[in-house]
Amino acid sequence: MAGQLSKHFRVSSRTSNVYGSRFASQHMPSQYFPEEEMPKDVAYRMIKDDLILDGHPMLNGQEEEAEKLIAESSNKNVVDQEEYPKSVETEHRCINILANLFHAPTENNETTAIGTACIGSSEAIMLAVLAMKKRWQNAREAAGQDTSSPNLIMSSGVQVCWEKAARYFEIEEKLVPCTSTRYVIDPVQAVDLVDGNTIGICAILGTTYTGQYEDVKGINNLLVQRGLDTPIHVDAASGGFVAPFVNPSLEWDFALSNVVSINVSGHKYGLVYPGIGWALWRSSSYLPDDLIFNIHYLGSDQLNFTLNFSKPASHIIAQYYQMIRLGKRGYTAIMTNLTDTADYLSSQLSALGFIIMSEGSGDGLPVVAFRLGPEQGVLFDEFAVSAKLRERGWIVPAYKMAADAGMNMMRAVVREEFSRSRCESLVCDIRWALKALVEREVLNVQRYQA
Ligand SMILES: Cc1ncc(COP(=O)(O)O)c(C=O)c1O
Repeated sequence: MAGQLSKHFRVSSRTSNVYGSRFASQHMPSQYFPEEEMPKDVAYRMIKDDLILDGHPMLNGQEEEAEKLIAESSNKNVVDQEEYPKSVETEHRCINILANLFHAPTENNETTAIGTACIGSSEAIMLAVLAMKKRWQNAREAAGQDTSSPNLIMSSGVQVCWEKAARYFEIEEKLVPCTSTRYVIDPVQAVDLVDGNTIGICAILGTTYTGQYEDVKGINNLLVQRGLDTPIHVDAASGGFVAPFVNPSLEWDFALSNVVSINVSGHKYGLVYPGIGWALWRSSSYLPDDLIFNIHYLGSDQLNFTLNFSKPASHIIAQYYQMIRLGKRGYTAIMTNLTDTADYLSSQLSALGFIIMSEGSGDGLPVVAFRLGPEQGVLFDEFAVSAKLRERGWIVPAYKMAADAGMNMMRAVVREEFSRSRCESLVCDIRWALKALVEREVLNVQRYQA
């Protein structure tokens, strides 16, 4: 009956109301290219409303001026060097600024470092791993040695892109295990694993799990002591935009002799929207020539060393905006506030009986990693707490810590929009979640006993 009615009363697709149009009663195309067009307001509303179930990033992430620059340059492809030379120059400026921030050597007042913008740290890491592999291969071939079994040393707490890089480029992963009390690489174990087939060691400045900084200096010094020139790549996806401002005396970057390459994400603490990362090499000698493509494109010769070819200019421009708008003082102010908030959150969670797994006081990222402690005496786990918090709109994910550490954990990443008062609300809601879960647990026990 309903079907018949709708047949009789179906209005034309030209109705002015999106949800009165025939498109609202059809599935959104998900398999095949639609045969016909759809009015623009209908397409817009249907997509916008469909996305409503996504989480909501805070609106004040980037300033209006940065958003305007993004919108004004969103149709520029930075690979067209001939057409967009100023965007290309902006990329070079960002690379130079980062190279100097990361203490790359200089010659005649110019940095020796080279680099490229990428889509994120993952792409940057792929490139850095390829460069380390190729350099190792070239050296071994020149010495008439076997090149069939390259290996890469890293902690078992690496982000998945390292496992990807190892698998894609056929490199053995030599893992230094995390333990139930150490969630970062052990420098001695790492350096003990070095052999003639080692292409490099990865050290993380701000691990994904706990935000802790791995001891890059410790690894570097051990290598130097043992007379090893094994390259270190620092995965500074998050820490690269935090440590130089909050903890400037920390030695982790090109100031250390064996650090040959560094990646950093612009879209984490670089304060740009997703789609931007940076790869930097200490000097051109660490990026073998055979990885650099000299292409003749749109009338000019260009050097190209990315996995992708086309690349949007807009996020490079937004990164440059953030650098010159905020300067060192602005980044320091923001990162220090985030660190203070993270410290406050840690102290509140610790008072609730949680075990804090992250470092405070700027010795790690503004990330709070925590797990349920024995004095809380509960049977439910971190996944239950995380799910309960979802009911109040918080996304505080629970994870299994790196396999060998054998534990669950939760992680709150403190970002720009997470003010002290939002932090207070989160603490309040964590208290509420714990209470609700304990009450349910008691009820379940009583039911079971009855
Ligand atoms: C330590 C670390 N490395 C690499 C990545 C990958 O970064 P991206 O998302 O920019 O590719 C992440 C992302 O979480 C990370 O935490």
